[in-house]
Amino acid sequence: MHAEWEALAQHHNTLQNVCLRDLFANDPERGKQLTAETPGWLLDYSKSLLTNETIDLLANLAEQINLRTKIKALLDGEVVNVTENRPAWHAGLRKPNPPAEVATELDRMSNFANRVRGGRWQTVVNIGIGGSDLGPAMATNALQAYGHPDIDVRFLSNVDGAHFEMVTKGLNPADTLFIVVSKTFTTTETLTNAHTAMAWVAQVLGHSQAAKHFAAVTAYPDRAQQLGISPEATFAMWDWVGGRYSLGSAVGLSLMLAVGPDAFAQMLAGMHQMDEHFRNTPWRNNLPALMGLIGIWNRNFCQHPTYAVLPYAQELALFPAYIQQLDMESNGKSIGVDGAPVFTPTGPVVWGQPGTNGQHAFHQLLHQGTDIVPVEFIGFCRPNHTHTNHQQLLIANLFAQAEALAFGSHSETSLNTTNPHRSFTGNRPSTIILGDQLTPYSLGQLVALYEHKVFTQASVWGINPFDQWGVELGKTLANNIARELTDTATPKSTRDSSTNNLLSHYRNRSN
Ligand code: F6P
Repeated sequence: MHAEWEALAQHHNTLQNVCLRDLFANDPERGKQLTAETPGWLLDYSKSLLTNETIDLLANLAEQINLRTKIKALLDGEVVNVTENRPAWHAGLRKPNPPAEVATELDRMSNFANRVRGGRWQTVVNIGIGGSDLGPAMATNALQAYGHPDIDVRFLSNVDGAHFEMVTKGLNPADTLFIVVSKTFTTTETLTNAHTAMAWVAQVLGHSQAAKHFAAVTAYPDRAQQLGISPEATFAMWDWVGGRYSLGSAVGLSLMLAVGPDAFAQMLAGMHQMDEHFRNTPWRNNLPALMGLIGIWNRNFCQHPTYAVLPYAQELALFPAYIQQLDMESNGKSIGVDGAPVFTPTGPVVWGQPGTNGQHAFHQLLHQGTDIVPVEFIGFCRPNHTHTNHQQLLIANLFAQAEALAFGSHSETSLNTTNPHRSFTGNRPSTIILGDQLTPYSLGQLVALYEHKVFTQASVWGINPFDQWGVELGKTLANNIARELTDTATPKSTRDSSTNNLLSHYRNRSN
């Protein structure tokens, strides 16, 4: 246990009864002081339940774990994914002078995108799951205002056949292009959907034509060729980029088809700006480091097991789901890089929905529930539309929610005994991340901001955020059970009594 960790624990003990109303009343400058900025973004962490001393102690912790050195190793492509002995060099994808293989692939993607965007295609369907879906889906949805007016980009991920039906509903195989995205090209859901899509095209256009309606993105191009996809329409990704960190690679091809190569390049530039901000900025104005360290304060000292990401931007409707994989698949670990159990709780549960909708769904719990949930609000000063009055109402609600969570109904210092049901005690922490406008560049900054927040926390916890061994067991069991369901000849294996009973129930009712 670091001395700095112990100092934070003791400091937390001194804050047991502190409340945000008092902190603000005692320091009129608090709302301005506890903020940080980088071009296009303001981070207001003044409504977090902490003091200047807290930030100093968190900065000491960052120094103690050599966070600056770790950041350099990450951004310079050193071997930081220690359990798989490889870099996690998503920063290499967006350097102004990237490695030759990255530059080559970006050129190939751009040429392909210009052909598709100038051609006869009406619909692009991205077939992928996890990092091969969530990133491009989130970004394409976020940048609708920048999308090609005549190309509809859809995302097929679930192995549930209903998803295939939903996504292909109303489509004409003749002007539909499928992009099969899979780093390993072994993911059951993706390959199952790819085969069904190939058959769906072939039944109308014939097998000889079907392959022309497919492109692939993978680290194993030979496997894509086995599916009949041409090398010219196959784009590379590499094992030194993790799936949930791969939006800036060819995994983002569907996004590039939607918004074009120039906008995609702008997103990469925004990512790079945040990379260098993370590398060079003192902790007190370092947005990813501050968000990561404040998350540590909320998780490990205030002991809040979850946090909510609430984008007050409908264009970011898929952002909470994207952050769920980025954060929970990276930091949902209980064994440290040293092979020993971690010394403190790690990855929190992340959840969220866009505002203002959440106010009519779960904000009751946020305001009056027994558990405190730290909130990360995201908003923008300028919209990508002309409905100014809507934007003003949206932002007014964002600011109001943060104020109500922090201060309650102001006048009350304790439970309103006359009508306790209407009591708002406040003292519920939030941070506000306020962007100028949602653009390809600022979306790139926002994605990198969260990537580096997650890295900061993994560095404090001493875990590897870049592997995901925890997903393997479920896949293996599913493959075994699927074989039992399809292969009626083999004797039924003696699984546990629950699974055996469920299998029996399913067999009786599925025919
Ligand atoms: O969830 C496990 C996982 O390996 C993710 O890390 C990855 O993004 C996803 O499955 C898809 O993997 P692939 O791109 O290899 O199909």
